[in-house]
Amino acid sequence: MWTGDCVSDLIPTLSEQELAAIDAEIAHLPYRAAAAIDALKIVQAHRGWVSDDSLRAIASHLRMSADELDGIATFYNLVYRRPVGEQVILLCNSISCWIKGCDKLQQTIGERLGVGFGETTADRRFTLLPVPCLGACDKAPVMLVGEELHENVSGELLQQLFGAPAQEGS
Ligand code: FES
Repeated sequence: MWTGDCVSDLIPTLSEQELAAIDAEIAHLPYRAAAAIDALKIVQAHRGWVSDDSLRAIASHLRMSADELDGIATFYNLVYRRPVGEQVILLCNSISCWIKGCDKLQQTIGERLGVGFGETTADRRFTLLPVPCLGACDKAPVMLVGEELHENVSGELLQQLFGAPAQEGS
């Protein structure tokens, strides 16, 4: 059970930059907790993911319970509650992308990087995650690598991004 709203002396702190960015969001919202998703994204942008300590600090600043904020973070699938690689590969596996072969793309990425969904490469460069529709269904299959959206993803693109397949026997 979270206790973040009653043990203020134990609550980890947010950086000045993080606080300034969160306060800028709060300033144009009707109540502090309405900035929950923005605050999670701001801290994630600075730290790469949202640890339990970070979550408690954000909840305290928004004057909401950590349980409540954790529910929001868990529901919103672009908030990472575990460490991820330097770049997150979000591969759409909804209907249009599935029809256009996202399974094959997942298999190819897995072969090149040695990871399945939910896994991070040994060198911590990439984490591969499934994502429901990225909103570009007419350009399926689609994936997001870091901040960059790739449409009509092909084997050639995967080779450009992740290298050629390993040679047999090498
Ligand atoms: S189903 Fe993949 S982008 Fe919509």
